[in-house]
Amino acid sequence: MQNAMINPFRPSAGANPPYLIGRNDTLDEFEDSLVSGPGSPNRLLRITGSRGAGKTVLLNALGKRARAHHWEVIDETAAPGFINNLILTVQASQPRTIKSVEFPSLGIDGIGNAALGKVEFNETTLPLTLRTALTEYLDHISKRHHDRGLFITIDETQGASTSDLRALATAVQHLIREDRNIAVAFAGLPGMTSSLLHDNVITFLRRATPIELTDIPLDLVSDAFENVIEKNGRSITPDALQIATEATRGYPFMVQLVGYNIWRKADDNTIDADAAKAGVEAARIRLGGTVHEPAIEDLSDIDRTYLLAMAQDIGPSKTGDIAQRIGKDAQYAGRYRERLIQAGIIYASSYGYVDYTIPYLRQWLREHAATLLMTATER
Ligand SMILES: Nc1ncnc2c1ncn2[C@@H]1O[C@H](COP(=O)(O)OP(=O)(O)OP(=O)(O)O)[C@@H](O)[C@H]1O
Ligand SMILES: [Mg+2]
Repeated sequence: MQNAMINPFRPSAGANPPYLIGRNDTLDEFEDSLVSGPGSPNRLLRITGSRGAGKTVLLNALGKRARAHHWEVIDETAAPGFINNLILTVQASQPRTIKSVEFPSLGIDGIGNAALGKVEFNETTLPLTLRTALTEYLDHISKRHHDRGLFITIDETQGASTSDLRALATAVQHLIREDRNIAVAFAGLPGMTSSLLHDNVITFLRRATPIELTDIPLDLVSDAFENVIEKNGRSITPDALQIATEATRGYPFMVQLVGYNIWRKADDNTIDADAAKAGVEAARIRLGGTVHEPAIEDLSDIDRTYLLAMAQDIGPSKTGDIAQRIGKDAQYAGRYRERLIQAGIIYASSYGYVDYTIPYLRQWLREHAATLLMTATER
């Protein structure tokens, strides 16, 4: 059956899409910075966006560009202690120091923890250990080719500990000052540059070139749908294309979900309006389970109450109204507003107004309001 054709869409966290929409400028500027030498602002990137906005796949694409220029790429996720991993990875990448990893207790700067088979670096010596490891690695990389370098990607930066970020900031700043070929891209939720972090770290992160992943323009989404569908042996009618495109609201995860489901619902090689409508509905339901639910699960009861209060409006909510609905003063409500902004769930749509970042969240909250309130009172 034709339906068994391989579905080209990739509605899954971190899965590279068949076509990366709207990121060409960012990728080109990054690539230019690799060629134009140390000191280029695009060698230091700070990528922020809500869940499903495309941070991880953008890091993947940046890494691909770097590799195309024969740069080495190291991808890290910022769980607590990730700098430790970074040091080990860097050391393991150099032929000369492999031994120190195989036999942790012999680690040069590490305090070997043979029982756990892990090397734990001392927090106070962390910055210097990292700097030394990176310097040696960069020496190794550029020995024969001066234009080669190292690109480090840090995902989920909001989960990093301050000491880890501080170590990285210190090391990278020194390497940049020494005109080394190093590039770093940090990705995370909007709150990753929150003022709660230590000042030095904040300054470093703020100085990085900001890339805010907001909605993708719908004309680009439309072109991408058409392109991907036709390249993979099917076609889409103009009205189906319009239904599918609009349903994405320009939200990257939804682009993949809609694409995947309209493809699945097609009876033959043409995706028509019926298939588009059925696919969009299936996509919306999947979005609830894969994005809305996990996003809400991470929140406190008051955060949820705030979001539910917003769902009473049909568009952006007035912050004053929300405070009133949850029965709190403006200052108290303001703190929760801020937390939700940092978590990438809402944004200030205009002065004194907030709206949801993730599409269809309003509808989902309304549909689940009863259950959400029940679990809140159960605790
Ligand atoms: N520019 C894009 N064009 C098309 N699809 C995209 C784009 N960016 C991301 N996607 C798709 O959106 C989904 C989410 O992407 P990704 O996992 O990178 O998001 P994220 O911001 O890292 O989310 P999270 O915060 O949950 O880790 C994936 O299915 C991916 O293929
Ligand atoms: Mg991600």
